[in-house]
Amino acid sequence: MQSNYRNAIFIEDAKILVQQAFEEEQYVLRVHAPKCAETAKPGQFSHIQCDPQRLMRRPLSIMRVSASEGWVEFLYKAVGEGTSLLAQRKVGESVSVMGPIGRPFELSTAKPKALLLGGGVGIPPMICLSEQIKEHDDSITPTVFMGSEVPFPFKRESSAISINGIKGEVSDCLPLLEEWGIPSRLASLQGYSGVYQGYITDLARDWLNALSKEEREEVEIYSCGPTPMLKAVAALAKEFDVPCQVSLEEYMACAVGGCAGCVVKVTTDEGEAMKRVCVDGPVFEAYTVFA
Ligand SMILES: Cc1cc2nc3c(=O)[nH]c(=O)nc-3n(C[C@H](O)[C@H](O)[C@H](O)COP(=O)(O)OP(=O)(O)OC[C@H]3O[C@@H](n4cnc5c(N)ncnc54)[C@H](O)[C@@H]3O)c2cc1C
Ligand code: FES
Repeated sequence: MQSNYRNAIFIEDAKILVQQAFEEEQYVLRVHAPKCAETAKPGQFSHIQCDPQRLMRRPLSIMRVSASEGWVEFLYKAVGEGTSLLAQRKVGESVSVMGPIGRPFELSTAKPKALLLGGGVGIPPMICLSEQIKEHDDSITPTVFMGSEVPFPFKRESSAISINGIKGEVSDCLPLLEEWGIPSRLASLQGYSGVYQGYITDLARDWLNALSKEEREEVEIYSCGPTPMLKAVAALAKEFDVPCQVSLEEYMACAVGGCAGCVVKVTTDEGEAMKRVCVDGPVFEAYTVFA
């Protein structure tokens, strides 16, 4: 991974093009933000002003971008004041969008089998990474697993693409990925039919166990989700001795490296160091964060 990643960050008055509600206060928001769309990469996020009367911004991962049409899309869950105010904003109104921010995921042709693991509001960066692979990285073969303990924010469908190591009854996938020809499966503890009953890491373990030693040497894991999940993903990566990149979430004030409000402890070659999730991350090598 590059030790220093920096890119131009833009502030745009972005018109809301789509604000679609799903179950359990989940929303897909699409805004017209052409400068952000021009350079945004998977793993990066935008810092969004949720209400014009308040200064507060909230970080949301970029889920999809269209540089040619100039839009950026997010998936968010309304959990508190900021995101609930954002949910009240209507199509045609504008929101101030600052982005793209942060260190993105880095794909490696030396590890062409990409295993993408997204949990809850960690699903968006995995969709973004899938789309980048589909558009630009023919040499990478992705497999995507997603977990959620609330209904998935899309209509599940049965997949026509089989995945080695995954039982037939675990059939449901994300239709968008299926359309792109990317194999995906879902995990949850909530008993949804067609969905793996258990943790996403156990589903991933079944997949890894079905690979030969040589195939496993070609795997890299990319993940975003709640901290306990990322910790379990890092342990799984260690168990199978595969590299792993994780995208972290922390409370953020400035989101541009100025306030040190988002620091986490990481292990570097020189020992322990404090890193800012907003600009030194949000993507880190898993082993540097979870020892
Ligand atoms: C880089 C990054 C990317 C993110 N991407 C997404 C995304 O794509 N979709 C999405 O829905 N959310 C995402 N989040 C989380 C989102 O920013 C928070 O849910 C949001 O800031 C909550 O603001 P609020 O004012 O609505 O709630 P608050 O009133 O601030 O908090 C409500 C609840 O959310 C929890 N919470 C708030 N912020 C965080 C956080 N950063 N990490 C963990 N728990 C938190 C609090 O513990 C509290 O229970 C991301 C966070 C970061 C740092
Ligand atoms: S939020 Fe201010 S330094 Fe990261």
